[in-house]
Amino acid sequence: MEKQNLINEIKRLKKEKNAVIMAHYYQTADIQDIADMVGDSLSLSQWASNTEADIIVLCGVHFMGETAKILSPDKKVLIPDMEAGCSLADSCPADEFEKFVNAHPDHTVISYVNTTAAVKALTDIVVTSTNSKKIIDQLPVDEKIIFGPDRNLGDYINSITGRNMLLWDGACHVHEQFSVEKLIQLKQENPDAAIIAHPECKSVILKMADFVGSTSSLLNYTTKSEKKKFLVVTESGIIHQMEKHNPDKTFIPVPPEIEGQTCHCNECIFMRKNTLEKLYRCLKDEKPEILIDEELRKKAVKPILKMLEMS
Ligand code: 13P
Ligand code: SF4
Repeated sequence: MEKQNLINEIKRLKKEKNAVIMAHYYQTADIQDIADMVGDSLSLSQWASNTEADIIVLCGVHFMGETAKILSPDKKVLIPDMEAGCSLADSCPADEFEKFVNAHPDHTVISYVNTTAAVKALTDIVVTSTNSKKIIDQLPVDEKIIFGPDRNLGDYINSITGRNMLLWDGACHVHEQFSVEKLIQLKQENPDAAIIAHPECKSVILKMADFVGSTSSLLNYTTKSEKKKFLVVTESGIIHQMEKHNPDKTFIPVPPEIEGQTCHCNECIFMRKNTLEKLYRCLKDEKPEILIDEELRKKAVKPILKMLEMS
C-alpha cells in the first residue's frame, strides 16, 4: 500500500476502534508523526495508566508494551512487531537476577524500566532515566540498594547521588557502541556544538558531555539551550523531534565504533523493527497482542505504581 493510503487507513482504524497510538522517541519519523503521543519511557507508562481508549498500540519495544499491559490489564495492548526486544532487558535474565537479589537480602531492589515483567516482579521500585535521581534521592542515605540492569546508568546515578548501589552488569548494545574517537573528532570540527548524551552511554562519553539525560530531558535541553549545534549521543530517532522543535538548530548524530557504510548502530535494531506497514496491520488484525499471566502482573505492577507515586 502507498504511504499516504497507509496513513489514511491507520487514522480510520484508530477512530473506528477507539485506539490510541503511543510512540517512543526512537521510532521512525513516520511513526512518530502519526502517533497520538510521542514520549520517553516514563511518559509512555503514565499515558498507558490513564488512557480512555479501548486499544493501546505501543510503538516501541516489548518491555514498553508489557509495562502498558501491566498498568492497563483491561485494555488490549498491541505492538507492531513482537520481535522488537531490547538488548538491555535481555542482559538481565530473571532467574539469574533472582539469585543476585537473594544473595543480598538486606538490599532494596531498584530496576530500570528496561526489564521483563519477571524482573519487575523481583523489584521494589522501578525507575526510568527521567526519574531515577528523583526517586533514589527520596530513599534514606544509608539504604543498601541493588540497581539493575544497566551498569552505565547505575554508575552515573551513583556519581550524581553519592550512593554506592550494587550494580547488575548489563548494557544496551546501542549506547555501548558510541565511538570516543569520532566524538572527539566531531567536537574538533564543531567546537561550538554541545555534546548531549543518554546515561546508558559509557562513563568516558558521559564525562565528555555538556548535558546527560533521558530522551525527554535531552529534547528539553536542546530547546532551552542557547547553543545552535548539538552532537547527539543516543539513538538517532530522537533527532526527529529535536529538529521539529528547533528548526533553526543543527543536530549531528554521533556514529558508533564499528566502521562500514552499512552500519546503523546508533539506530536500535529492535525499535526499528516497527514500520508504518506493520502498524497498519497490527491495528487492522488486532495482533500481535501483549498478554501477561495475572499472577505475574500483580507482582510486577507494584514496583511500577511505586515509581509513578514517587515520580
Ligand atoms: P528513555 O526513558 O530516556 O526514553 O530511554 C528509553 C531507552 O530505551 C533508552 O535506550
Ligand atoms: Fe533497549 Fe538499547 Fe534499544 Fe533502548 S536503545 S530499547 S535500551 S536496545
